[in-house]
Amino acid sequence: MDRRNFMKAAGGALASATLASNALASTVQQLGTADVAGRMILPMNRNWRYHNSVVPGAHERNFDDSGFDRVVVPHTNIKLPWHSFDDKAYEFISVYRRKFTLPSAAKGHRVFVDFEGVMTASTVWLNGRKLGEYKGGYTPFSFELTQDVDFSGENVLAVDVDSTERSDIPPFGHQIDYLTFGGIYREVSLRIVPQTFLENIFAKPQDVLTPHPRLQVDCHLQHDGAKQSFTLEAELRDGERIVAKGSQAIESAASAVHTVTLEKFGAVKLWDLDHPNLYTVHVRLQRGNETFDEDSRRIGFREAQFTDHGFELNEKIIKLRGLDRHQTFPFVGQAMPGRVQRRDAEILRKKVKCNIVRTSHYPQSRHFLDGCDEVGLLVLEEIPGWQHIGDEAWKQISVDNVGRMVRRDRNHPSVILWGVRINESPDDHDFYARTNALAHKLDPTRQTGGIRAFQGSEFLEDVFTMNDFGFPLKPPSRPRYLNTEFCGHTYPTKTIDNKERLMEHTIRHARVHDQLASNPQYAGGIGWCAFDYNTHYDFGSGDRICYHGVMDIFREPKPAAGFYKSQCDPSEEVVLEPAFHWATGDESVGFTNALVCSNCDHLRFYVNDKLVAEVGPDKTRFPNLRYAPFVADLDKRESWGDLRIEGYLQGKRAIVKEFSGKGIDKKFEILPDDPKLQADGADTTRVVLRVTDEFGNIRPFANDAIKLEVEGPSEIIGDNPFALIGGTGAVWIRAKEQPGTVRLTATHPTLGKRQVEFELLSVAPERV
Ligand code: GAL
Repeated sequence: MDRRNFMKAAGGALASATLASNALASTVQQLGTADVAGRMILPMNRNWRYHNSVVPGAHERNFDDSGFDRVVVPHTNIKLPWHSFDDKAYEFISVYRRKFTLPSAAKGHRVFVDFEGVMTASTVWLNGRKLGEYKGGYTPFSFELTQDVDFSGENVLAVDVDSTERSDIPPFGHQIDYLTFGGIYREVSLRIVPQTFLENIFAKPQDVLTPHPRLQVDCHLQHDGAKQSFTLEAELRDGERIVAKGSQAIESAASAVHTVTLEKFGAVKLWDLDHPNLYTVHVRLQRGNETFDEDSRRIGFREAQFTDHGFELNEKIIKLRGLDRHQTFPFVGQAMPGRVQRRDAEILRKKVKCNIVRTSHYPQSRHFLDGCDEVGLLVLEEIPGWQHIGDEAWKQISVDNVGRMVRRDRNHPSVILWGVRINESPDDHDFYARTNALAHKLDPTRQTGGIRAFQGSEFLEDVFTMNDFGFPLKPPSRPRYLNTEFCGHTYPTKTIDNKERLMEHTIRHARVHDQLASNPQYAGGIGWCAFDYNTHYDFGSGDRICYHGVMDIFREPKPAAGFYKSQCDPSEEVVLEPAFHWATGDESVGFTNALVCSNCDHLRFYVNDKLVAEVGPDKTRFPNLRYAPFVADLDKRESWGDLRIEGYLQGKRAIVKEFSGKGIDKKFEILPDDPKLQADGADTTRVVLRVTDEFGNIRPFANDAIKLEVEGPSEIIGDNPFALIGGTGAVWIRAKEQPGTVRLTATHPTLGKRQVEFELLSVAPERV
C-alpha cells in the first residue's frame, strides 16, 4: 500500500493529525531542534510569509509572495488593543506561506509537517496540492508530505487560516465567554522519520511508592509493512545518568504498541509539589549497531488519585487550591512563545502559591504544561468548548480532541485529571460515555472529570467536577468532589476599584476556601480565575474584559491574589499582603477595617509609629483555614500618616511592610521578567511598569502615559505610549532575529526615565 493509500485507509487528515498529537510531546521537540539517529525534527517557525486575506493563487508553488509580510510564529493574525476592541477584527481568513528545501538526508524517509496550534481551521497545501483541512484551534495536527514533497528542490507550504467562529468547530456554535483570536499561534516543525518509526511513547510509572518501582514504556510503532527484525530499547535517565534499561526483539510488519518494562532500578525520587523531580525516558529502534530511530519523553514518578476523602498525591492528602487559567494575553491573543507560557506556571505556583491550575477551557501550550511539571503545579486539562454541544460531526471533533489532548499530554506528571465534558454543557449520555471511554482507553492511569454547572448532572466520570458560584457552597453531593469555579462573574473586580470592593473580592475567595477546608470530601477548589481575560460583547465589563482574575490581564496581582499567596507555609515564604490601599477616605466612612492576608500568627499595626492595633487571625470568620486572614480595626487611630504592619511568628518579628500615608506618586519602576532572550524572532519577555510610593507599594490611581523607546533588534508588543491602569501595566519585548543589545527606555511624565537592557543571544538559523 503506498503512503497516500495508507493515509486514506487510516482516515485521511484525521489520522495524520493524530500522528502529530503523538509526536509533539517529545523531548526532542521540547529542546527545540535535534537530529537524533534516524529522525530529524526541523523547526519551521521563521521565514513565513503572511497576508491578511485570501489571495487567489497563493497556494501555487510559483506564486510571488514578495509582497506578503515576513513573519515568525507564534504569530497573531492582527495586533489588537488590550481592551475595547471588536472580535470581528481578527475573524478573517488569512494566508501563510513557507518555502523549504529538505536536507539531502531526508531521502527515503517519511516527512510530516506538525502544527501545534492554529486558530481555528487550517487548509494546508503543498506545492499547489491540497492536503486537507484540519478543524480545531487548540489541538495539534499534522499532514504527511512524503508523496508530494520535492526531496531535492524547493517546496512551498501554504495554509489558509480561517479564524472566524465556525459553528462546525468546538468551541463555537453558540455564545462563549472568551476570545479565541487567530493565526498560526503555536510552533510548526517538519518531522522526518524512517519508514518504520516511533510514533508515540507513553511511559507509565508503577508501584512508585514501593522500594521496587517499575516503568512500563508503551512504544507506538508505525510500521512500513515490510517484515523485518529489530530491537526496541528503552532507557530511564536521571539527567545524564542511565537508571535502567530494557529491550525487546521485534519481528513484525504491523503497526503496533510494544511494551518494554523497566524494573529493578530501586527507589526513585518522587515528583511532588515541593520537589518536582523529573526523569527522561529514551527509546531507540536498533538494527544491529545502527540506531534507526529514537525519541524521548520527560516523566515523573508520582501516584495521584481523587478519593472520597480528598485528593491524594503520593498517599498524602493535598487540599487543592488553585485558579482557572485562560491562555490569552493582551495585544497578541494566544500568540506568546514558550518563555511567556512557562512564566504563567511560575506566577501561579511561586508568586500565588497555587497547587493546581485548570486549563479552562481547552488544552493549553505544551510550554505551559512543561512549566507546570517543572514548578510542581498540578493540572486539570480539558477539551475545548463552552456550554454548547453541536451536531454529530461537531461531537466527533470533540471526541477526537480528547484523543489529541491525552496522546499529547499523558506523560506530564503535573496532569492529574482529564476534563472530558464541554464546560458547563447539558448532559448527553452517549457523547460523554464516548469521551470518557476514549480518555480511559488512551490513559488508564488517570481519572476523568467533566466540568458541570448543575448538581443533578449524570456522573459518568471518576471525579465530580462542579462549578458552584453560590455561597455557602453546596455540600459535596458525590464522592470525589472538586469545585472547579467560584467567584468570577459574581464579583468582577478591577485593580482600580475602591477598597471595599477589593477587600470583599478577597474575602469571597477566602470564604470559599474556608468552607472547602471544612470537609475532607471537598477535594479543594479552583477559583475563577487567574487572570482577567478578553471576551465577547455579551460578557464582561463592557470593554471586552472579564475582570474576574485575582490578577489583571498583565498578570499583576489584585489583593485577592494575596489570599492565595498567604496559604503557603511560612517556611516557604513569610507572607503579609494587605487587601487594601492605604488611603484615608476611599471607602464611604473613612478607613475602618484593614484586611490582611498573612501566614503569620500575629500582626501589629502602627500609624506614625504608634501601635494602633494588634490582632490574631480571624478564626471566627474563617475557622477552617490554616492561615486565616486578619482584620484590624484602625478606626481608633489618632492621626493619619504612614502605616507599618509587623508580622510575628511565635513571638518573633518575621516580616514588616510600610505604606505611605502621603498620597504622592514617588517612584517609577520598570521590571523586566528576563534579562536575556533568544534572537529567534519569537522569544518574548514581559516588562512591568509601576508607579509606587516611597516604600514600593503600587499607587492604584496612577494612570500616566509612559513613553517607550526601544533600540536594538526587537519590537514592543503593547501600546506606546502605555497608559498605566491601576498604577501598573506591562508591555512585552519580542526579539527579532539578530543578536545584540536591546535598550528599552520608559519615560514617566514627572518621575523621569528608566532604562533596561536585554541581551539577545544568537541562535542557529533554521535548517529548512
Ligand atoms: C462560568 C464559565 C467560565 C466563565 C465564568 C465567569 O460559568 O464556565 O468560562 O464564564 O462563568 O464567572
